[in-house]
Amino acid sequence: MVGTERVRKKYDRWSRFYDAFDLGGVNDQKRLAVDILELSPNSRVLDVGTGTGAIIPYLASKLGAGGRVTGIDFSGPMIERANARIRKKGIAKHAEAVVGDMTGLSYPDACFDAALATFAFTSFPEPEKAMMEVARVLKPGARLSILDTGNPQGRASLRYRYLKAVMWRAGFTDISLDVPGLARKAGFKIIKLHRFSGSFAYLCMCEKS
Ligand SMILES: C[S@@+](CC[C@H](N)C(=O)[O-])C[C@H]1O[C@@H](n2cnc3c(N)ncnc32)[C@H](O)[C@@H]1O
Repeated sequence: MVGTERVRKKYDRWSRFYDAFDLGGVNDQKRLAVDILELSPNSRVLDVGTGTGAIIPYLASKLGAGGRVTGIDFSGPMIERANARIRKKGIAKHAEAVVGDMTGLSYPDACFDAALATFAFTSFPEPEKAMMEVARVLKPGARLSILDTGNPQGRASLRYRYLKAVMWRAGFTDISLDVPGLARKAGFKIIKLHRFSGSFAYLCMCEKS
């Protein structure tokens, strides 16, 4: 297990320039991860490990007056940036960003209708615990959309090993973590698994049993 404090401090430091990196922005893969949730207007949606909350405005755009997005991250500086974005976009009625540890949320059981996790679980020091917590706060039948990195063919190619080492330094605890496997263990059904060609990223849509 990678030390939680070490990872948190890394993201605290990274928060200033996180959006300048490809991963921090909003791209087609992230939009697709939102689209497959097929959110209904009044959904209460959790953005797991939201970072600077870059995807929050897009999530909020899918909701009506009764819907709400909650982005959670354990890095205070990341959340400050996410909240600044929410204020700037004028969406504070439908979105919030909150400091919290995904391994122990203060929300009651079954209070969210859907969850999104983009490049989140592979950067968590305790991903199993976090997955169990996501399962706990989602309603039965709710969808969890996961966009993350993995080694598609299970081969340790040179390019992949290099990427893994670089990403580890960047704060990712294990980019080859079997996140869909964790979801299964936590009681999710895997509905869709799509690997993007020419990339180590994949999209996985799960449903809480
Ligand atoms: C690679 S970033 C992804 C951010 C965003 N989802 C994106 O796609 O750009 C991972 C985020 O997870 C957060 N994180 C790591 N462990 C966490 C935990 N246990 N609880 C809450 N957030 C955590 C980090 O602070 C960081 O902002």
